Amino acid sequence: MIIASNFKTNHTRKSTREFVEQVEAFVNESNSTVEARIYPTSTALDKFVTDKSIKVGAQNFYPTQNGSFTGEVGFEQLQEFDVDSVLIGHSERRHVLKESSELIVNKYNFAKDQGVEIVYCVGEPKEVREAGLDAVMSYVWEQFDGIDLNYDRLVVAYEPVWAIGTGLTASNDDIKEVLKRLRDKINKPLLYGGSVKVDNVGDILDIENCDGVLVGTASWKAEAFIQMIKAAQNIK
Ligand code: PGA
Repeated sequence: MIIASNFKTNHTRKSTREFVEQVEAFVNESNSTVEARIYPTSTALDKFVTDKSIKVGAQNFYPTQNGSFTGEVGFEQLQEFDVDSVLIGHSERRHVLKESSELIVNKYNFAKDQGVEIVYCVGEPKEVREAGLDAVMSYVWEQFDGIDLNYDRLVVAYEPVWAIGTGLTASNDDIKEVLKRLRDKINKPLLYGGSVKVDNVGDILDIENCDGVLVGTASWKAEAFIQMIKAAQNIK
């Protein structure tokens, strides 16, 4: 089970460190086998001393080691903090920051060459969901164009755009159907994301083929994130 927290544009260096330390203390104490992932802002990355089951990863990077890309962070800068997991294709990067499919594929291939874990995010906007499951799947499969599904460190996060940060969660049946169809072609961990909260995480983790969750808003307090790790521990 993977329980991941995407900080987005929240927390400072200080509060990020406190968060990581609190989660680490819990994981150590409870002998948890849950894989925790924390994606802070790039300014808060650091060489955190972490348990093997916790990774502090990057929300974003530019597909280069270094170079002239004003305002961007390359891999050389991530490696300084031993970053071993990255998010790619998050809906806010696709839709708000207007990242093209071409850039996303470049980022994927670059990260793959570096050998890091890639949490690759896909998901449909509201109008596609309203058109039904087949429309959702053809939209989602298109987001896999050029993406190597056999990369051994691939994790896929299904995150319907209309459910992200809105308080609206996809129904368990909808999540189940999409994960089932993804599972037909993808033999990698499958996460769900989109308004996951402490009180629905257990039911979501119970869905067939669900190997974890990627959480934004409801995970930004360490206590809540720890509750979600606990919920994952209880799933058989
Ligand atoms: P949310 O965000 O939990 O706030 O909906 C999820 C995500 O963006 O990964």
